[in-house]
Amino acid sequence: MSKLSRRGFIKLGGAGVAAGAASLSPANALAKSEARNPGATTLPYPNKVIGKAKSLPKNKAVHFNYPDDLSPCAVIRMGQPVPGGVGPNKDIVAYSTLCTHMGCPVSYDPSTRDFKCPCHFSVFDSEKKGQMVTGQATENLPRIRLRYNAKDDSVTAIGVDGLIYGRQANIL
Ligand code: FES
Repeated sequence: MSKLSRRGFIKLGGAGVAAGAASLSPANALAKSEARNPGATTLPYPNKVIGKAKSLPKNKAVHFNYPDDLSPCAVIRMGQPVPGGVGPNKDIVAYSTLCTHMGCPVSYDPSTRDFKCPCHFSVFDSEKKGQMVTGQATENLPRIRLRYNAKDDSVTAIGVDGLIYGRQANIL
């Protein structure tokens, strides 16, 4: 068995540190960061065409699922520009329809233009990015990020802002 000098030991230690740093490449660091931060906006969201802007009925919820079949959502053409709205009139918005309190399905009320939860009566403002207005919930409704393509009038879901109820990460 050979004796390792103090200088040799330090050299080996330095090599070990260098190897450790190499294994933490930017790609690895991003993967680790996403694992620690499931709400990260860098999750690999699918693009899903919801429909044509002009064919969406005004002030009526149209239901779809995103980012997967287990996640119910609703898109609404509000009929007037709203914050975060897309489309030719900046009036199209979409939200998860699972209440952020305990996951009951919320429904859109065209008369008050908000989402209401039947379980414990939370209310979310569809014209203010799903902001929680009143009730037991403490989080806003997760907002579905939309992209509008003027060439073919399509509206596409491209991501989610906020954590969908019951999930540790929006992408399962
Ligand atoms: S589940 Fe919606 S308020 Fe409780």
